[in-house]
Amino acid sequence: MQTLLINIKELLQVREQHIDKVSGADMKVLPSIKNAYLRIENDRILDFGRMEDLNGKTVDSVLDIKGKMVLPTWCDSHTHLVYAGNREQEFIDRINGRSYEEIAERGGGILNSAKKLQQTSEDELYEQSSRRLEEVMALGTGAIEIKSGYGLTTEAELKMLRVIKRLAEDYPITIKPTFLGAHAVPSEYKQNPEVFIDLLIHEMLPKIAEEGLAEFIDVFCEKGYFTTTQTDRILETGSRYGLQAKIHVNQFSISGGIQVAIKHRALSVDHLEVLDTNDILALKKSETMPVALPSCSYFLGIPYTPARKILDAGLPLALASDYNPGSTPSGNMNFVISTACIKMKLTPEEAINAATINGAYAMYLSKTHGSITRGKKANLIITKEIPSYGFLPYAFGSNNIHTVILNGKS
Ligand code: NIG
Ligand code: FE
Repeated sequence: MQTLLINIKELLQVREQHIDKVSGADMKVLPSIKNAYLRIENDRILDFGRMEDLNGKTVDSVLDIKGKMVLPTWCDSHTHLVYAGNREQEFIDRINGRSYEEIAERGGGILNSAKKLQQTSEDELYEQSSRRLEEVMALGTGAIEIKSGYGLTTEAELKMLRVIKRLAEDYPITIKPTFLGAHAVPSEYKQNPEVFIDLLIHEMLPKIAEEGLAEFIDVFCEKGYFTTTQTDRILETGSRYGLQAKIHVNQFSISGGIQVAIKHRALSVDHLEVLDTNDILALKKSETMPVALPSCSYFLGIPYTPARKILDAGLPLALASDYNPGSTPSGNMNFVISTACIKMKLTPEEAINAATINGAYAMYLSKTHGSITRGKKANLIITKEIPSYGFLPYAFGSNNIHTVILNGKS
């Protein structure tokens, strides 16, 4: 099956040669072809070029998309999309002056979501999560990482990971599963967190590995959650089970967690709302992707990740949604890109690079996703008629997506 898109106003993020990621000043460049065609064969990108170079080979269908642009779908490398219920009450509590930390200390926060999830059946959890997944797919996300971490018992963590697996089997979007058992210490282990970590290491991890339910391992390394020493131990064990590290770190405080993650060759370090020179220097000596989550900063009213400091140091940066019930009840990557431009001072080129190829890197998907490259997945956004690609972040809150193509099909 071959499909040909013709009269593309501008084909964005065209990479003739394979790249893994873009860093520093290179992120200011978003290669493109104006007045382009793109050929899809089954679920792959077969060919592309300028309209004047298009030859007359026969195809099964032709789509004339005059005035519209085409770019790779968003690669959202950090979400907690599988959860039960919502935390609307905590949202109201915060409006009335309680802080996110205060709510968590009183048994709200992650533990509140865990209680709800433990009481929800696997089928109901699948139902609730599939609606959110369908929503983000329609908003242009074509690859997504989803974490466990609202279970916090062996049974409930397995339930979450099985739901993630079922979603991956049932939907055309690419899904990468992460085990985040170390998301919060349940109240019954507050006096003995090491006992919970033992459970995670000796009971949860072996079962997850046996069923092949996760590819990455995550830890919330933060004051009141998991220390650097505990993070080190959990990541070490995860790597023995073949799970690569991706951690939550530097959201509220600087702890040395970035250095621990790098020691374990983490694929990404995520949040980084606070970041010092030592952190930047450590990242410069690594292949680890810094990931910013601007919708979380927006929703909680906390500082934004200092993106300019990161890029000016020559580092790469990825953008992700952090979709979750507590700190970011939105998986809209278009909003993430707008907010990155408006609040973190990224240019549209930097933001689009961060949300496509660099997001793919943070999920170990650069070989197949994140750019318009021959042989990569035909996961494409066709925009509405827009004057330029900068219009995407500029027109924040508007939906400028006309069609989403996943695996070559709309
Ligand atoms: O990435 N920071 C840790 N975990 C999530 C939010 C957890 C929650 O509040 O439910 C995050 O923001
Ligand atoms: Fe998160």
